[in-house]
Amino acid sequence: MLKSFEVVVIGAGPAGYIAAIRCAQLGFSTAVIDEWKNDKGEAKLGGTCLNVGCIPSKALLESSENYERVAYKFGNHGISVTGAKIDVAKMQARKDRIVSQLTGGIEMLFRKNKITWLKGHGKFAGSGEKYMVEVADGGSSEIVEANHVILATGSTARHLPGLEVDNETICDNIGALAFNAVPEKLGVIGAGVIGLELGSVWRRLGAKVTVLEALPNFLAAADDAVAKEAWKVFVKEQGLEIKLGVKIGNVSRGKRGVTVEYETSEGKQALDCSKLVVSVGRVPNTRNLGAETVGLKIDERGLIEVDEHCRTSLPNVYAVGDVVRGPMLAHKGMDEGVMVAERIAGQAGYVNLDTIPWVIYTAPEIAWVGRAEQQLKAEGVAYRVGQVPFSHNGRALGQDETAGFVKILADAKTDRVLGVHIIGSHASEMIAEAVMAMEFGASAEDIARICHAHPSLSEVMHEAALAVDKRALHM
Ligand code: FAD
Ligand code: NAI
Repeated sequence: MLKSFEVVVIGAGPAGYIAAIRCAQLGFSTAVIDEWKNDKGEAKLGGTCLNVGCIPSKALLESSENYERVAYKFGNHGISVTGAKIDVAKMQARKDRIVSQLTGGIEMLFRKNKITWLKGHGKFAGSGEKYMVEVADGGSSEIVEANHVILATGSTARHLPGLEVDNETICDNIGALAFNAVPEKLGVIGAGVIGLELGSVWRRLGAKVTVLEALPNFLAAADDAVAKEAWKVFVKEQGLEIKLGVKIGNVSRGKRGVTVEYETSEGKQALDCSKLVVSVGRVPNTRNLGAETVGLKIDERGLIEVDEHCRTSLPNVYAVGDVVRGPMLAHKGMDEGVMVAERIAGQAGYVNLDTIPWVIYTAPEIAWVGRAEQQLKAEGVAYRVGQVPFSHNGRALGQDETAGFVKILADAKTDRVLGVHIIGSHASEMIAEAVMAMEFGASAEDIARICHAHPSLSEVMHEAALAVDKRALHM
């Protein structure tokens, strides 16, 4: 007999699994279809984020930062360690354990919430009173029916034309997270989030890293002042080599690695590297989804068209996460998953795309929410700025992490916070206060009047809020 569900979710990444859990909490019979298999051929939940994205990358970041602290930074504290070594196999095994723990945790949550997990590729097979969805795994397939369908098929790495990724020598995020030794020379194409995060992991562990970026300016998505500070720290102090305004030419594989020919304003050059990472953005997964069978609208970039409530062009079909407009971030997808489940239940779920935080997990970390100063200028918005460095902060000094600053942009007339930009230690944690402030429509004065614990890094946020009104107390 045909299996029938109130809601069928296609994709079990953060957007899909969260949508499914919230649907189940709201009393809907729910199934999730996912085709992910790990390198051992085992079906796993969690999508890109848990298997080859957020979680494994942060595990490696922490290991490499610990190594760098022990090898180079503890001396400042009077702790001397000789012969610090990195065991890459052990570091990778730890990362794999964390991934298994979390993907297994989602299996457990599915059982607890009575969510049916259907393993295989999902696609629309037809529609009538209900939607027919096919699940195909190898040679076998079945059709299930659903009143509502949530598409959460996510994204995969964009590759460059003619440059075959084998995930051994030329890698995307999957291979770059699984190196079994520190490459002597690592080339990275694309100085975006993955290029900077993974480039800095392998640099800390001893690789000579060169990043080739097409754009003439660095970190164009960030506030200009943050990008400038990041350049100073990553390039001038830490020794990450970044070439801007690059046009990639021929890439050839040899016995000992890869040679990338490229051109900049300085002329033609070549980079020899033992491994090459291609991190030039991601493309939404909308191929072979049966979109044409049911008339689902997909735009020219491959994104499923949705409105502000993630409703697609079809009734009772929603799409969330990386496969729709907006930043490709796990927490944005999760929030959309909750919103859609609540909308199906007739509730008023909502996601404010203007207050989604961004974090780049380099050292120091970069985090922001809201608009950058150059955006406000371009939009002709009158604003005031409060910018305070970590270098005067007692906690930052104690931690030996004094790089960077907090910058608050507030409306010149109303004082409402329009953007907060942080580069510094624990920026990923500190940004939460700014997100909360912006969601509550706070003014810089509101933040300035809130008591912040002493000594803590959050005092720099407090000082920056005071600095908007030119009354910082420690400057
Ligand atoms: P995905 O996580 O991509 O999941 C989609 C799932 O759908 C997959 O399991 C896929 O197999 C399955 N699927 C696709 N099509 C079908 C189909 N037709 N049938 C069945 N199953 C299908 N974001 C952050 O917020 N913070 C970070 O620190 C961060 N770090 C990252 C680091 C790296 C290296 C990478 C690559 C990404 C990182 N991201 C991070 C981005 C984050 O991983 C994505 O934004 C997030 O995973 C998107 O979630 P999603 O549920 O939309 O899709
Ligand atoms: P990205 O969009 O962040 O950066 C890609 C970079 O590659 C850009 O700077 C772009 O100008 C450059 N580029 C594009 N084509 C090029 C070419 N031909 N030659 C040289 N450079 C080229 O994409 P990335 O790093 O692949 O990450 C994908 C997405 O994954 C991110 O945008 C983000 O949404 C998500 N992510 C989020 C993380 C986080 O939240 N901390 C961490 C990692 C990824």
